[in-house]
Amino acid sequence: MRIVRTVADLRGALAPERRANRPIGFAPTMGALHDGHLSLLRAARAQNDVVVASIFVNPKQFGPGEDLERYPRDETRDAEVAESAGANLLYAPSAEEVYPDGFATTVAVAGLSDVLCGDPGRRGAAHFRGVTTVVAKLLNSVRPDRVYFGQKDAQQAIVVRRMVRDLDFDVEVVVEPTVREPDGLAMSSRNAYLDPDARDRAAALSRGLRAAADAARDGVPTAAALAAARSELEAAEIEPEYLEARDAEDLSPAQSFNGRPVLVAVAAEVGGARLIDNTIIGGH
Ligand code: PAJ
Repeated sequence: MRIVRTVADLRGALAPERRANRPIGFAPTMGALHDGHLSLLRAARAQNDVVVASIFVNPKQFGPGEDLERYPRDETRDAEVAESAGANLLYAPSAEEVYPDGFATTVAVAGLSDVLCGDPGRRGAAHFRGVTTVVAKLLNSVRPDRVYFGQKDAQQAIVVRRMVRDLDFDVEVVVEPTVREPDGLAMSSRNAYLDPDARDRAAALSRGLRAAADAARDGVPTAAALAAARSELEAAEIEPEYLEARDAEDLSPAQSFNGRPVLVAVAAEVGGARLIDNTIIGGH
């Protein structure tokens, strides 16, 4: 696997593949790779001839006081595991390469970026503006045929899908299922922040989502399912930042399970780590 650090080298490496019409699959990441990331690379491996991974801890999507400085970084190990999952090329640019002096453009998806994690009282829409700006750049740099995202970050996948549709990016967006630890905790680079007690309590997030799914039946108010989730969280002394039921496609508030898929999403700080998880209920 080759590692490149500039757009010019990236384009140079991909030019022969493009000329040979070899499909390119791309998984953007911020590194500290775990099985969730690797599932994206494996899916890309299965569906494309060329697999590109990127590692870039994107400063624009971190707010003041968030964990940009302490975000885990281990490129040597990441390169090894990315290669073992099937990556052919690793794009690991510097912040100056991505945002050179004078960089002045922002890509923003209105509406979808303003709720859940993007609520002004939470991470805010600036977080998703940071995501869509960097993903737009990465898509233009790599020009993949398919780009892979995880369901773990459900809102991010929805926002990116809308950007791709609105701006006519010529790429297929593929969303892969959430990969979990044996006790249900969704894998996340931020799980490294958890001490043993917090790690134990963090499993309540996925237990709560399962309780919500169990409580959900056609026509049941979403409030009943959210109450079932909330009691799992309370038992683990977790006060969620949010726990909400929303339409899984347009993120409008969902009042009941009425046939359309409902996204139940939770965010909570557990032992100093901000964790998110979600499940989709119904829609069959
Ligand atoms: P990062 O948090 O590193 O995640 C990279 C990709 O891996 C995202 O698509 C995310 O949804 C997926 N992923 C993370 N944990 C997962 C899990 N447990 N199961 C399945 N997929 C999982 O998301 C970002 O980076 C950034 O916002 C990025 C898109 C790279 C833009 O900077």
